Amino acid sequence: MISFEQSIAAAVAKTDTFSEEEVLQLLTIPQETTHGNFSLPCFALAKKMRLAPKIIAETLATKIELPQGISKVEPVNGYLNFFIERSFLASSVLTHIEEKGLSYGHASPNHKTVIIDYSSPNIGKELAFHHLRSTMIGNSLSRIYKANGYHVERINHLGDWGTAFGKLIVMYLREGRSLEDDVLENLTVKELNILYGSFSKISKEYPELENEARAAFTRLEEGDSLYRKLWSAFKNATLKELLRIYSMMGVSFDHYTGESFFEDKIPAVLDELREKNLLIKSQELDVVMLDDFDLPPCLIRKSDGSTLYATRDLAAALYRKKEYQFSKCLYVVDLGQSLHFKQVFHVLKKMNYDWYQEMVHIPFGVILQQTEEGKWEKGKTRSGTASLLRDVIEAAKEKILSFINEKNPDLENKEEIATQIGISALTFNDLKNRRLMDVKFDWDSALSFDGATGPYVQNAHVRLCSIMRKAGYTSKMEDVSWDTLTDDAAYELIKVLSRKGSTIAKACETDEPSMLAQYALEIAEAAHRFIHQDRVLGSAEEKSRLFLVQSTQIVLENVLDLLGLFPIRQM
Ligand code: ARG
Repeated sequence: MISFEQSIAAAVAKTDTFSEEEVLQLLTIPQETTHGNFSLPCFALAKKMRLAPKIIAETLATKIELPQGISKVEPVNGYLNFFIERSFLASSVLTHIEEKGLSYGHASPNHKTVIIDYSSPNIGKELAFHHLRSTMIGNSLSRIYKANGYHVERINHLGDWGTAFGKLIVMYLREGRSLEDDVLENLTVKELNILYGSFSKISKEYPELENEARAAFTRLEEGDSLYRKLWSAFKNATLKELLRIYSMMGVSFDHYTGESFFEDKIPAVLDELREKNLLIKSQELDVVMLDDFDLPPCLIRKSDGSTLYATRDLAAALYRKKEYQFSKCLYVVDLGQSLHFKQVFHVLKKMNYDWYQEMVHIPFGVILQQTEEGKWEKGKTRSGTASLLRDVIEAAKEKILSFINEKNPDLENKEEIATQIGISALTFNDLKNRRLMDVKFDWDSALSFDGATGPYVQNAHVRLCSIMRKAGYTSKMEDVSWDTLTDDAAYELIKVLSRKGSTIAKACETDEPSMLAQYALEIAEAAHRFIHQDRVLGSAEEKSRLFLVQSTQIVLENVLDLLGLFPIRQM
């Protein structure tokens, strides 16, 4: 199907002024409805044609042959505004949705691979509330990239290697815990969390424990069988809980290649760094100097021979490039790690890999919560509760459940639906603003059914579904009379639906799920207005309007899905 933009571009190109490509680049969608559906600024031509933009727009208006579906053009102050015929817009947009279904607005495959490294928590600890950000931004980006034509590899780069494991091992042995297989198999991440906490406390009194932990990690790296056994039990205990939470959140990965996966790939990286004369001894450490980029040295190896976070990220980058030939590799990790990624990317540059430019750190702001005094602070909650992600999810679910019990106590599967609304509410609250902004979290505004919230957009979807259910039949395109879908409310809604493809593309180009979140709000608002103003069931235009309801539901369902929200049908 040819888009309006394309047919406008072709029509303008025939006037020998702009080329088709120029028109496609310049064409904008005006804010004001009175300025039409598309607007072509003529300023860029003024120099070339030695004419005022106003004159150019006026001349174009008289010369252009209106393409099908465009009802008029109007020159205004150097812009040429195009007005789409409403019934034509309705038929072209809704036909397209009917044809493509949920994938309406998706791009065709571009045969490029993008790697998305997200969530990637440290093993041995429970997921904290702040892990929601990387997890849900990454989850949404992976869906958006896929919809925009990419092949996506979703990677969880688990923090399953490093001194932290030395600490856990030291503490486990110190407490004289059982080494029996069945005890190790039944370890929980909760116990590990406590163990970790005890280490922090006790090591304040006995600082030598820190050295013991480092030595224990070295022993683990050297392959000691007992230490390996403990490490693997710790990892399994954490993974079990991790998978439970991911599945509840609707999040999944193609690979769980954590830091330990790169252990045997590190010697080759060290050799390569040495061959390229990049490895330098500095105070007992092996480093790569990065002063030519105004960056501190990148630490590669400690004096005891153990490797570091950056070393494993280097090995991972080289492995990913070789394994997947990515055209882009995204790291969805908080802003605090910017320096780390700059260093890793620049070491790759020094290694002469020009694909270092394809590596992108996707940073984001922190979650802020209000203190008793009403100040917004990082990582503190009003009553000191709910800093574990599972507790926050549970609390969100309980709050929604009590709401359901009040309004719709007979709802089937209400526990599950409450969990899905709760998780979606937390997610939407995280995704609705540009990712670099800090997220202000407060229960009342995140869980509200009004305003820019998850429940609000989900509720719009539920209402569309409920109209379809009440109608009891599916409206067919043959039954639709396009002329009945031209009043303001229907027209505004259809205009919003027509922007799905360009919104996905923009969200993908800028790595901003927020663009899609704002778009979901626009759909919800336009849908609410349409349902309010144009009675659907029982009206003379029922079949046509129901068709618009169905089309809107399809678009909204997919947009919710791209955001990682649950498109529930009943609440
Ligand atoms: N495990 C790290 C942390 O919790 C995040 C890992 C991000 N990904 C990476 N390839 N470095 O801080």
